[in-house]
Amino acid sequence: MQRFAFNLHSRDGAARCGTITTSRGEIRTPAFMPVGTAGTVKAMLPGSVRETGADILLGNTYHLMLRPGAERIAGLGGLHRFMNWDRPILTDSGGFQVMSLADLRKLTETGVTFRSHIDGSKHELTPERSMEIQRLLGSDIVMAFDECPALPAEGSRVAESMRLSMRWAERSKAAFGDRPGHALFGIQQGGVTRELREESAEALRAIGFDGYAVGGLAVGEGQEAMFGVLDYACDMLPDDRPRYLMGVGKPDDIVGAVKRGIDMMDCVLPSRSGRTGQAFTRRGVVNLKNARHADDPRPLDAECTCPACRSYSRAYLHHVFRAGEMISGMLLTWHNLHYFQEIMAGMRKAIAEGAFAEWEADFHATRAAGDI
Ligand code: GUN
Ligand code: ZN
Repeated sequence: MQRFAFNLHSRDGAARCGTITTSRGEIRTPAFMPVGTAGTVKAMLPGSVRETGADILLGNTYHLMLRPGAERIAGLGGLHRFMNWDRPILTDSGGFQVMSLADLRKLTETGVTFRSHIDGSKHELTPERSMEIQRLLGSDIVMAFDECPALPAEGSRVAESMRLSMRWAERSKAAFGDRPGHALFGIQQGGVTRELREESAEALRAIGFDGYAVGGLAVGEGQEAMFGVLDYACDMLPDDRPRYLMGVGKPDDIVGAVKRGIDMMDCVLPSRSGRTGQAFTRRGVVNLKNARHADDPRPLDAECTCPACRSYSRAYLHHVFRAGEMISGMLLTWHNLHYFQEIMAGMRKAIAEGAFAEWEADFHATRAAGDI
């Protein structure tokens, strides 16, 4: 059994480039993880997701426990076989999704009870049950069970929530046990308060995890505040373990996070925007819904090698979006995921060459030039 490992190859300032090794394959870092919430990256076949350059997908405990059920997926051979993706999968632990999606939530020291947003059925999630579900799914990277208050939140609520999440982190570690070939990541909380982030990091380091996530960000605090936290939060986490910024972000968020020492990220943005007609390109966001594309024979991005840009015009992408055709979501999701992976590949190369600052300057200059 290949043990979980993280090897750093190069650094450029605070930015790092490395490889995470798992029993299901390697993950090149900095890595962007497409979101496959319900056992699919919406509108994409797994082989196509791989073609965009993804090494790892994210799945969700919350959605899969409700439908089709963790025991059912385990009975069918686990999530990898179920969704036909044989590379690494990281699963989020559920608490964060319960707080944002479920009905009638009740939070106690034990865990959280709630009603399904799908059919109103009653469920409970605890650190122990979350670890069991993620084991049943066959997740390669398991996330500790945590909680994060909705914004705006009072300082005392953020502190209490963080301390509860740290007690849950300890229970998560105990329940996870020793599972060679599988990794458990802790999740730092503490909002935008430096002292709370330090207290949280200290608690996680004392427990000891295979990797460390920065949670509780990208919840409405704004980019400046988020970068402000990352400026110190990364230094609080062990240098020799992967650092994962959860739920981020837009291309410029991703670049700023990597610059500050983040190794992994996930976000629904490229896939979700693809289904609403939004394309991310090196020159900025293009909204294919806009009537100005109706007669435009040019590709979305002449330099992009994805199927949407290689074989179709903006006029066609505009038409199929307006007509509500499924190929619209398919093509734009492919393009967006391809572009996000291209950003990651560009940063990895730049870090390896010690040219991250130049790469970043070019990234911002190209966007500022516009012409989209
Ligand atoms: N996804 C985005 N932010 C968070 C967080 O703080 N915790 C968890 N578990 N998932 C997240
Ligand atoms: Zn493209």
